[in-house]
Amino acid sequence: MQGSTERRPTHPRTASRRRYLMCRPTYFDVTYSINVWMDPSRPTSAQTAQEQWKRLHDTFSTLGHDVELIEPVPGLPDMVFSANGAMVVDGSVLVARFRNRQRADEAEAYLDWFRAAGWSQVRQAEYINEGEGDFLFTGTEILAGSGFRSDQRAHHEVRDFFDRPVMSLTLIDPRFYHLDTALSVLGHGEIMYYPDAFSEESRSVLSERFPEAILADEADALVFGLNAVSDGKNVILPRRATGLADQLRDRGYTPVGADLTELLKAGGSVKCCTLELRE
Ligand code: ARG
Repeated sequence: MQGSTERRPTHPRTASRRRYLMCRPTYFDVTYSINVWMDPSRPTSAQTAQEQWKRLHDTFSTLGHDVELIEPVPGLPDMVFSANGAMVVDGSVLVARFRNRQRADEAEAYLDWFRAAGWSQVRQAEYINEGEGDFLFTGTEILAGSGFRSDQRAHHEVRDFFDRPVMSLTLIDPRFYHLDTALSVLGHGEIMYYPDAFSEESRSVLSERFPEAILADEADALVFGLNAVSDGKNVILPRRATGLADQLRDRGYTPVGADLTELLKAGGSVKCCTLELRE
């Protein structure tokens, strides 16, 4: 039929209940610069950050997910980005080892939190490892990023620790310095990503392994549209990533827009604020 747009068949999507760890942005600020988004001379509002963060928190609760909280520590303004604190798969917890000294002390807070919460297999990574910022679990394998933060050797450590296959990916654009700024796991073996954030070799690995992936354009990637959290059906992502939202809807997902513009001043958004706890 002339003029009809070609649409791929939509699959029914099912959400599963998740458990997330979040940290209130009580002490949020941009006082140093460890990525190209951070400009300490630009004013920030901890109040706005808290309001935006609270709406994200409530979105997860409304969708039926369990949200746990770690107490923010004064002097650690980036601690709101709990995704970086650890990686948790099958009840095992590998706590981060941060590249930058400004964030190093966050690791101690996460170690304490997991131990106090009764998680049994808990240890800190030996190599530089920024948790779910650079390590994303698809349900079967772990996608591992390096290039700016996590050490390449951390990929092997993660494989051995979780006993899961690891796919190594190299990031090349400083605006997308963590894997979770350039790629998002949707579930059902599907991902979405921004190809230009990756080395040529990684791009071909990705297109071979995920031929059906949703590809983001630069505009959506720049508003951190890929810094998203999926429960298998609902995909919570920055509201301004409208192109991605349309593509998600076409595939049968329900995009849920979030506004975290204040946190973007530190180079983070939805996914950065959300650490998934997988028992
Ligand atoms: N300012 C923080 C940093 O540069 C932002 C971390 C964002 N988190 C993330 N998962 N990408 O470390």
